[in-house]
Amino acid sequence: MTDPVLRMRDITMRFHGVTALSDVSLEVERGEVHAICGENGAGKSTLMKILSGVHPAGSFDGAIEIDGRPAAFRSLGDSEREGVVIIHQELALVPSLSIAENLRLGNEITRRGLIDWDRTMTSAADLLERVGLPQNPATKVLELGVGQQQLVEIAKALAKDVKILILDEPTAALNDADSERLLSLIERFRDQGITCILISHKLREVLRVADRITVLRDGATVETMRRDDPETGEGRIIRAMVGRDLDSLFPPRDPDIGDELFRVEHWSIAHPADPDRLVVDDASLTLRAGEIVGLAGLMGAGRTELAMSIFGRSYGRWVSGTAYKRGREVDLRTVERAIRSGVAYATEDRKQYGLNLIGDIQVNVSASALTRLARLGLLDLVRERKVADAYRYKMNIKAPSVRAVTGSLSGGNQQKVVLAKWMFTNPDVLILDEPTRGIDVGAKYEIYGIINELAAQGKAILVISSELPEVIGLSDRIYALSAGRITGELAREDVTQERLMRLMTAGA
Ligand SMILES: Nc1ncnc2c1ncn2[C@@H]1O[C@H](COP(=O)(O)OP(=O)(O)OP(=O)(O)O)[C@@H](O)[C@H]1O
Ligand SMILES: [Mg+2]
Repeated sequence: MTDPVLRMRDITMRFHGVTALSDVSLEVERGEVHAICGENGAGKSTLMKILSGVHPAGSFDGAIEIDGRPAAFRSLGDSEREGVVIIHQELALVPSLSIAENLRLGNEITRRGLIDWDRTMTSAADLLERVGLPQNPATKVLELGVGQQQLVEIAKALAKDVKILILDEPTAALNDADSERLLSLIERFRDQGITCILISHKLREVLRVADRITVLRDGATVETMRRDDPETGEGRIIRAMVGRDLDSLFPPRDPDIGDELFRVEHWSIAHPADPDRLVVDDASLTLRAGEIVGLAGLMGAGRTELAMSIFGRSYGRWVSGTAYKRGREVDLRTVERAIRSGVAYATEDRKQYGLNLIGDIQVNVSASALTRLARLGLLDLVRERKVADAYRYKMNIKAPSVRAVTGSLSGGNQQKVVLAKWMFTNPDVLILDEPTRGIDVGAKYEIYGIINELAAQGKAILVISSELPEVIGLSDRIYALSAGRITGELAREDVTQERLMRLMTAGA
């Protein structure tokens, strides 16, 4: 008794001779939640871009059928008219516009040729309610956190008449509570008959919402499994993804913690648009050499703002606070000075702050440390290439060469380039903001190994992560941040999820 809403058959896609997909087939039942899993670069996003017309008919081989009828989409608009809506891995909202404007961009409600603002606003309010986002539609998108922007993207999909909703790593940037809310939303859509295709590296949530799971490996379909099959579990998915078992999520580590390396005291930062509102309120923290310190907090707690303000005051209005390295005050007033003082910040938002997407891998890796590659005032390109190659190898960045354009890499591999770039500045203090966002389970292990190695070299590392198991698994010590204030500190031996959650919600 099958009723497929979508059939993709023998899809093959090549980019300049590199085969991203070969003979991939996918069948999706009407009204099911179908998850697609696979390592970084396996071809998940490419398959969905083919389905949604981003890669137009003719650029790939194979056939697509929707509701039993052949489909040949030449653009996103084509697929949307058939009810296929994709929410990309990289969000595509216009930050300077309001929520309401974003919701209706390209899909405006008009009256006699003019935008009908009354109806635009009411419909926006309706849509926001359907996705559970209690925000004023007039709010500018730049004032929202990534999690809330994700909900706006989904509301935007609902504004169109959606039959198949494709979500490419929708919860990558969300904390547990927001992810939970989004998953319930997906379940609610299923009850309303909307078919969802979900790409995710978070296997726990895949197992929670998906009816069936298709695994891709190196551009080919490995298998499709049913969730209610008793053999289906994280182990089986991982085996299918990486072709082997993975015993532990964290590599072994023997911490060797030295003296204080970095400290900030009484750090207060005001909101850029509202000088009376403190986003970070009198925070003090210490990092020791060789220590991995976690910074945990809910969305909006001020973690990224704290990190960015330390890194050259890149966020907000500085109000007060002093930073010390090895006991001596350091000047972190600009990004250049922060880098010169040995502080680096690998950002969670690779598109906006992290990478030059039209540059190749080599250019990106060296971008923040060009002086390290200069010889007689000239950039030593041979060395630059060697360094980039070394990182590509070490971090297993999937690309034909370091001359590959960064924007053409899969999301997870772009994230690895961000890490390589900041590691190459050889900082003493490295702040990692969601370092494994969008990274597959196997590659996560590799990245944890690299973080451990950096700590073993005597660097101090501050890790921000929305995934509590990750913060707990990595850190020697954890600070909890709630509403801009540090509400407590837990040593590795004392950490439990419950204790941490209590601190993260204290005073909020
Ligand atoms: N526009 C493009 N030009 C060249 N190569 C591309 C392009 N888009 C994708 N690729 C390549 O195709 C392969 C599959 O990429 P894709 O983005 O589909 O992976 P993914 O499974 O979504 O990975 P991730 O989990 O990291 O997001 C990768 O090797 C990628 O570099
Ligand atoms: Mg992808």
